[in-house]
Amino acid sequence: MTTTLPLNSGAQIPQIGFGTSQAADAASSVAEALRAGYRHIDTAQMYGNEAGVGEGVRASGVPREEVFVTTKLNNGHHAPADVHRTFEESLNRLGFDYVDLFLIHWPLPFLETDYVETWKAMLELQDSGRARAVGVSNFQPEHLERVIEATGVTPAVNQIEVHPYFANDELRAFCRERGIVVAAWSPLGKGAELSDPVITQLAEKHGRTAAQVILGWHLQRGDVVIPKSDNPERIRANRDLAGFELPAEDLAAITALDKGEAGRRSPHPNEFGK
Ligand code: A2P
Repeated sequence: MTTTLPLNSGAQIPQIGFGTSQAADAASSVAEALRAGYRHIDTAQMYGNEAGVGEGVRASGVPREEVFVTTKLNNGHHAPADVHRTFEESLNRLGFDYVDLFLIHWPLPFLETDYVETWKAMLELQDSGRARAVGVSNFQPEHLERVIEATGVTPAVNQIEVHPYFANDELRAFCRERGIVVAAWSPLGKGAELSDPVITQLAEKHGRTAAQVILGWHLQRGDVVIPKSDNPERIRANRDLAGFELPAEDLAAITALDKGEAGRRSPHPNEFGK
């Protein structure tokens, strides 16, 4: 059983996805993840592994239409013509005739091409049916407000950095108020937060792995997660969360680990790509 969340496009997104950023061998880890029951795979033009992701989906034997696949527009491709051209290239590399979700990877507000123009091109792809839903990643409130105001269309998803050391709660609340699903990238803080004593103590208390404790916290906050792993055992364990509920005081103890801006693992989105 996979829990799904409704998108404003009418589609459903599985709350637990499989991340492929920095995957050692995307084809084999994606096939492993699908065999383990994941039904949502996250890739990007930037990761250079879309061909491997497509290969992994086919190798798994799981029908394409049962898998929710996301890819993202790379940073050099914000001009509307490049959105169209590179989207076609992504489909070719994946070997699919549609993706479930296409995201603008970073806002790059300092570029000559205004991301509002990029967003309009994304909406054309949605109209074509080959991107079944469209959204953004790493967008801050001011970026979201501009694209919504200019087009009247709200991104289905904002994929942003969220993990215990960077809870990102203001931006999450902003998205929630507008019906934008939040997907948490680096949900485990790239693995670095697994050894935090609060996390390891909760893992011991509940007889769970540290990763399951952190992922459970995300799920109970209502976000999508896309943990990455190269290891088959960890791939399986990271989605083995059915029936796991942290009590409110344990959720609060994890949220209290938030270090605010100091907890980011990546530059502020207004600086990224400069
Ligand atoms: P590995 O691929 O060797 O499992 P994030 O998704 O936050 O970016 O974190 C990914 C990092 O966390 C990777 O280094 C991954 O290493 C590690 N990781 C993922 N799942 C687990 C787990 N269950 N236990 C320990 N480390 C994990």
